[in-house]
Amino acid sequence: MQDSSIGIFDSGIGGLTVFREIERMLPQEDLIYLGDTARVPYGTKSAATVTRYSVQNVRFLLEQKVKMVVVACNTASAFSLEELRKQYPVPIVGVIEPGAKGALQATRSGRIGVIGTEGTVKSEAYAQSLVSRDPKVFVASTPCPLFVPLVEEGWLTGEVTERIAQEYLQKPLAQKIDTLILGCTHYPLLKPTLQKVAGNEVALIDSAEETAKEVALLLAQKGLMRLMRRENKMPRRDFYVTDSPERFRRVGEIFLKNPFKNIHHVTIEA
Ligand code: DGL
Repeated sequence: MQDSSIGIFDSGIGGLTVFREIERMLPQEDLIYLGDTARVPYGTKSAATVTRYSVQNVRFLLEQKVKMVVVACNTASAFSLEELRKQYPVPIVGVIEPGAKGALQATRSGRIGVIGTEGTVKSEAYAQSLVSRDPKVFVASTPCPLFVPLVEEGWLTGEVTERIAQEYLQKPLAQKIDTLILGCTHYPLLKPTLQKVAGNEVALIDSAEETAKEVALLLAQKGLMRLMRRENKMPRRDFYVTDSPERFRRVGEIFLKNPFKNIHHVTIEA
């Protein structure tokens, strides 16, 4: 099992932020990524639909014999993690719990902002996870739907993006948060803009980074970590997408900051 791959899935391209952090932290591991690009976005869909898709995504990854599944999508983690853990016996890591834990470590005032898709905010998954760990914490959640298309267009900085960020963050900042959870796959790419708008006193919590730490911890705890590689064998990096690979390759480069290959088209619907 130690030599099996880690399976990561997202609604589309954004989960590459999580992929990148896992790759950085665990370079020796084989990684398989599934982007459900034919059915993206998940952020505007109902819990039932997102859960149905997520169940199919995990089934696909298990068919590839992965040793662990990472639900890189915040919306899928928010809506479906419980159901996925019920249905599948493999270790499954979502992005919500690591993000919440990271925020609780960072906050001094106990006032935490959460930004995410409409679905993630509506689910209150971050707020529940935060409050269950510390009942005294104050949580201000704000959906920021325009951030996903901005990132996919590569508009990570600049006047327009800043103006939109100011608009979205106005309310949580007025509530005197000192920590802001970036509760969507795409938002880590907006960090410089968000930090500028929020000010340096506000700690930004990147759930992608926190999730990679959690993956490493869980692999170690379960004795599943790959310790070394046989000589001359590069780690596996395979990307599966449910729509054509072309856009994934192009926009994916914004996320990975490098050209990448091994993108395959798959059909996963039952
Ligand atoms: N991956 C999604 C998330 O983190 C954002 C894109 C979508 O709406 O599917 O919530």
